[in-house]
Amino acid sequence: MNIEERIQQAAIEAVKTLYGVEPEKKSVQLQKTRAEFEGNLTLVVFPFVKIAKKKPEEVGEEIGKELVEHSGIVSAYNVVKGFLNLSIADNAWREMLAAINADEHFGEKKATEESDLVMIEYSSPNTNKPLHLGHVRNNLLGWSLSRIMEANGHKVVKTNIVNDRGIHICKSMLAWQKYGNGETPETSGKKGDHLIGDYYVAFDKHYREEVKKLMAQGMDEEKAKQETPLIKEAHDMLVKWENNDPEVRALWARMNEWVYAGFDETYKMMGVGFDKIYYESQTYLEGKEKVEEGLEKGIFYRRDDNSVWANLTEDGLDEKLLLRSDGTSVYMTQDIGTAKLRYQDYPIDKMIYVVGNEQNYHFQVLSLLLDKLGFKWGKDLVHFSYGMVELPNGKMKSREGTVVDADELMAAMIEDARRTSDELGKNADMTEEEKQEIARIVGLGALKYFILKVDARKNMLFNPEESIDFNGNTGPFIQYTYARIRSILRKAAEQGIEAKCTDIALAQKEVDLIQKINEYAAVVAQAGTDYSPSGIASYCYELTKQFNQFYHDYSILNADTDEQKQFRLLLAQNVAKTIKNGMALLGIEVPERM
Ligand code: ARG
Repeated sequence: MNIEERIQQAAIEAVKTLYGVEPEKKSVQLQKTRAEFEGNLTLVVFPFVKIAKKKPEEVGEEIGKELVEHSGIVSAYNVVKGFLNLSIADNAWREMLAAINADEHFGEKKATEESDLVMIEYSSPNTNKPLHLGHVRNNLLGWSLSRIMEANGHKVVKTNIVNDRGIHICKSMLAWQKYGNGETPETSGKKGDHLIGDYYVAFDKHYREEVKKLMAQGMDEEKAKQETPLIKEAHDMLVKWENNDPEVRALWARMNEWVYAGFDETYKMMGVGFDKIYYESQTYLEGKEKVEEGLEKGIFYRRDDNSVWANLTEDGLDEKLLLRSDGTSVYMTQDIGTAKLRYQDYPIDKMIYVVGNEQNYHFQVLSLLLDKLGFKWGKDLVHFSYGMVELPNGKMKSREGTVVDADELMAAMIEDARRTSDELGKNADMTEEEKQEIARIVGLGALKYFILKVDARKNMLFNPEESIDFNGNTGPFIQYTYARIRSILRKAAEQGIEAKCTDIALAQKEVDLIQKINEYAAVVAQAGTDYSPSGIASYCYELTKQFNQFYHDYSILNADTDEQKQFRLLLAQNVAKTIKNGMALLGIEVPERM
């Protein structure tokens, strides 16, 4: 039983002893005592006023006295209006820290056989270009959310839908055929996804020239865009692809392999991964089938031009196209097919889609359609909708101007971290390998923390310089504090001082720190219900700040007595553990030295 549960139990008994009535458990409301009052936990007295038939102040006094005399866990009390502020006895705090220490993953739950299964989709790139800053935010959120759901005792399946077919990839393929001279990742030394991205850009360049030419001949822009030879060829290619033309399919397969190899490198560097990847080329036909099924059941209808629609006007939305008149599928059809395959593969209880907020409407519609089609998780599917992320103007712009490449960004962050460490000189005695490993951890930590600390729904600017500051609300600040504690622990070990729970009288700041570590459990639970990586980030920052204040005021290795040294080491060790676990929920590593 933790302290709150023990107090709750004791309060129920006190009320029963004093007034002869056993109050309901939920009437015992405890909150953290406000900083201006003495105490740790505050009991709200009002619910017992009726039972006692006395004034709130009097009831507070009586319950307080009873708790001090008989609970064995309350050492003092004071009453402010209807609030009973309780000071918890030192031994209870010591026991609490010992219990926290005994659990390597204190505050986190483990999935069991009975846990429900949460599937989380994130990343979901198109295969015509490399990942960019928007994907970085997506991937970090998706990964963190998966870790948070796991820490809340859910079974989690991380998934990805790769949009590997369609006109976009045909454009890259066509440009490569025309202008590529057989270039491959091997011959060019380029990452496969970058190579394909370059041909997508090349397509666009030539295409625009053609549009211009047609317009110069007097064609209006709309028409010119449809009529250029290049776009027509790309469309022909897509038709060939749909008809399983062996040559087109072979080229498509080959170029996609290059792209996937490139993506894999990016994911690996970012520290994210998936349990099961789906490909649009394999799901879109399933979607068609499911739509036909809905048509038979009268959920959808066919228009005279042979197109298939869902009428969602009664649900407050509009009409939604599901199959074009030529029978080809649209984006929504693919999502229905993917849902079908996923549900065949896993007994999904909850589905979370991590996708940008420009697709809010799409997921509103998808939820309704899946529900109508009988998916039990359709109605309550979660669209984890996040805002845009941009760089402040002029910083690390990629060649195209506005798109920031994920690989370049990560490499730049690592370089910055290395430069900062070199300048501070703290890494002077490390091997080159160690320096580089720490730069990787710190550079990526700066990037990840800066993005994840922001409420996902908000648009944001990623400021590289600010993110890597060793002071302030940054990843490196938290990582540095972790490394500092680890260094204290190493020193203690050298001096033969053990971290352990001793019987010392506790200072207020020690109690506060124990209470803060204990809060981790509630923070993880809250982040799970709110789907909130930023809640975890704030907590890590607060804990770090609080430890630093404590360490500023109190010595650990130079404390007066051995018992104090041992106890404070235990405290520091559990702060470090909790920072490490919390940061892991954000996908951020912490260094042993820095
Ligand atoms: N590939 C799509 C895009 O880049 C995002 C896919 C989102 N996921 C989904 N199930 N629709 O816009």
